[in-house]
Amino acid sequence: MTAAALKRPRDCSFAPGDWDVLARFWYPVAFAADIGAAPVAVRLLDERLVVYRAGARVVVARDLCIHRGVPLSIGSVQGDEIVCRYHGLRFGPDGFCRAIPSEPGAVPTERMRIQVFPVVERYGLIWTSLDPEADPARIPVFPEWDDPEFDQILPPSIDIAGAAGRQCEGFLDVAHFAFVHQNTFADPNNPVVPSYAVSRREDGVLVSDYISDVANIPHGMAEPVPVPEGFLWRRLFEVQFPFFPRLTIFFPEGLRLCLFNCATPVSARITRLFVPIARNFDRGGDLASVYDFNRRVFEEDRAIVETQYPEDLPLDLMAEAHIRADRASIAYRRGLKELGLGRAYTA
Ligand code: FES
Ligand SMILES: [Fe+2]
Repeated sequence: MTAAALKRPRDCSFAPGDWDVLARFWYPVAFAADIGAAPVAVRLLDERLVVYRAGARVVVARDLCIHRGVPLSIGSVQGDEIVCRYHGLRFGPDGFCRAIPSEPGAVPTERMRIQVFPVVERYGLIWTSLDPEADPARIPVFPEWDDPEFDQILPPSIDIAGAAGRQCEGFLDVAHFAFVHQNTFADPNNPVVPSYAVSRREDGVLVSDYISDVANIPHGMAEPVPVPEGFLWRRLFEVQFPFFPRLTIFFPEGLRLCLFNCATPVSARITRLFVPIARNFDRGGDLASVYDFNRRVFEEDRAIVETQYPEDLPLDLMAEAHIRADRASIAYRRGLKELGLGRAYTA
C-alpha cells in the first residue's frame, strides 16, 4: 500500500482525512454481468468512474476526458479503446491516448492519458480501488462463493440514501429484528437478545456466537429442512473493514446461508449495497423468492438507516448511548476509529 496522497474529488462529501483512509480499500462498483462494451458510469467515494470491457479485460477509469472534461461514459468502446464523444480522442486500457482524429499521424504525449484504476472481477462483481497500488489480496473474502457445495446467488443491488457505516452497523445489530423485521422473519414477541461473544481480528470484528431462537425462515414460506422444536439458531458475523460484514446463519442438519453485505460508499451520504449470497440448500431452487425476500429485508433496514442522524456513524463512543446488545457495533466503531477515521464520523 502506498503512502502517497491520492487526489480527492473536487466535490468530496467526506472529511479529507476520512476520504484518504477509505480510498485505500477495495469496493465493488458494478455487477460483472452488467459490464460489456457499453461504458457504464458509477461513483465511488464521490469519484466519477467509467467501467467497460475492453476486449477481454475490464477497465475502470476516471469518467473524464482530459481534453475538455466530457464524461467518457457518454462515449463508446471500439475494440479495446474508449472513444470520447466530443472530439473522438481514443484511449487504450492503460489510459494512454492512442489517437487524435483531428491530427492524423500525431503521437499523443504522455500527458494525454486518463487515470485508470486497479480492477478485479470477483463474486460476480467488479471491484476497484482509488489507490493505484492497492493490493488485490486485501479484497474482502467470501469463501463460500468458490465452494462447489454451495449455490451462488447475486440479488439486485439496493441504493440507500445513507452512510455505509450506518448500514453496516445495522447489519450487525441483532436487537432490531423484533421491531424492524416482524413482517419478514422476526417475531415481535421475541425481542430479547441473548449474550454473545465479540472479538477483534486484524482486519475486522468477529461476532462468533449469537445463538437465539429467532428463526431465519421467511414468514409464510416452507422450511428448507424440518426445524426441530426448540432449535437454536446460530449466527456468525465476520466483519471486514471498513464496510463488509458477512453473516452465516446455521440451519439444522449442517445447512448454511451466507450473506456478504458489501456497502459501497458512493458518497458520504449514499450507499450502493451489493449482497452476494451462498447457500448449501434448495440447490438450483427458485431465485425469484430469494431476491424478493432479500429485497424486503434490506428495504426494511433502508427505511431506518435513511432516518438516522447524524448521518455518519459516530465513532466517539460518548456520542450515542449504548445497550448491552450493542457489543458488536461498539467493537465495529472502535475498529473504524483505529483505521484513522473519525472527523466526519463524529459529527
Ligand atoms: S473532450 Fe474528449 S476528445 Fe475533446
Ligand atoms: Fe436488519
